[in-house]
Amino acid sequence: MSFFSKLGENIILPQDVLIQSKETSIVPNAVNATIGIATDNKKALPLPTINEVIKELSTAEYLPYSPTPGLLKIRELWKEKILKENSTINSKYLSLPMVTTGITQGIDIVANLFSEKDDALLLPNLFWQNYAQIFTIKLGNNIYKYNQFDNENNFNLADFKHTLYNIKENKISIILNFPNNPTGYTPSTEELTQLVSTIDVFAKENPNKNLIIISDDAYFGLFFEENHKTPTLSATYKLVDNNNCLVVKLDGITKEYYGWGLRVGFITYYTSDDELRKIVLEKTQGYLRSTTSSPSNLSQQIALRLLESSQVKQEKTCNDSIIEGRYRILKEAIAKYNLDDDVTILPFNSGYFFTIKMPEHIDAHKFRLKFLNDYKYGVYSMDDSHIRIAFSCLDKELIPDLIKNFKLCIKEFSK
Ligand SMILES: Cc1ncc(COP(=O)(O)O)c(C=O)c1O
Repeated sequence: MSFFSKLGENIILPQDVLIQSKETSIVPNAVNATIGIATDNKKALPLPTINEVIKELSTAEYLPYSPTPGLLKIRELWKEKILKENSTINSKYLSLPMVTTGITQGIDIVANLFSEKDDALLLPNLFWQNYAQIFTIKLGNNIYKYNQFDNENNFNLADFKHTLYNIKENKISIILNFPNNPTGYTPSTEELTQLVSTIDVFAKENPNKNLIIISDDAYFGLFFEENHKTPTLSATYKLVDNNNCLVVKLDGITKEYYGWGLRVGFITYYTSDDELRKIVLEKTQGYLRSTTSSPSNLSQQIALRLLESSQVKQEKTCNDSIIEGRYRILKEAIAKYNLDDDVTILPFNSGYFFTIKMPEHIDAHKFRLKFLNDYKYGVYSMDDSHIRIAFSCLDKELIPDLIKNFKLCIKEFSK
């Protein structure tokens, strides 16, 4: 007999990105583009006044427990922020956000409150691996994957539709993660409208199916191209006209306020059903109470002050434009070196990352090791054919050389 429960037996610590990041850190002078934070000269890129904020905090403020759903003030401010960024939604339908321990806990909450074994989860073919850990390994959901891009590298609405209509389960969670990890793609306003319209028609044609439409807005705000800036909630909110659709927004301080280690996220519900909104808030609190019990008061006190400060607003704009600047230099370097003659670069226009699909004759894992050991660049090989590069971690001076060397390394595999 084993000590482990079924969950204990099934749960794993996914090794890929952790191992790859560790491997990169032990290669002397290697550039690390494996991880999902923003850095400046190899250190986390801070909002400059964060240390001042921390120094001003008093023990009376941060030592007591926080309420289970978080400090009221930060919840109210976050709601105001969501309403400002999504001016067409109905403020009465939007719940007060609840504080989660990072966005990861928000994902765990939606997964646990609304799904169980033999329900379905709809995802693109490339996605943040933790979704699978939470929805399938822990809860036994079946994953359905659509190809995010077609053979012409266009956002693949047809495959989204085809895959959705092939789901036989009656409970379906749909995660929309724009800007996307790993591809860095945010759909155009028209693409997002069509995507939502597909879900809308499906919901109407299948009144027996319940849909939970989750936007994972981890990289919210890092939109770099006109017409690819529509917040997901500004499109999905219309779905709640169907009483078989529940809309959930997950976001946080993590990337939006350069506070990865603070672990402050939010879960917010949008529904026209007042009773349901009340119940989900209560149940979310129950779930929070039985897991983390109460979120970090210290982190919330820091985050609250960041949200309130007009200086921080400017600092955030400045940091966001540093990342955008890297994005632009990257695009220029890709064009200068004609990188897409050698590989397929998946469309990207936002966020932290971009993804390269390797030619068939090159194994992405082998390429990664060579690129790390011979060229001193750490990148993340997600599977046999895709490599993710975090430009959020690349000081702008490094970017052209990375692309040049990527090309040289590819040539070595053609010899
Ligand atoms: C798409 C996506 N969602 C959620 C998260 C987790 O965010 P947090 O660190 O706030 O738990 C990440 C982190 O990398 C992510 O890439």
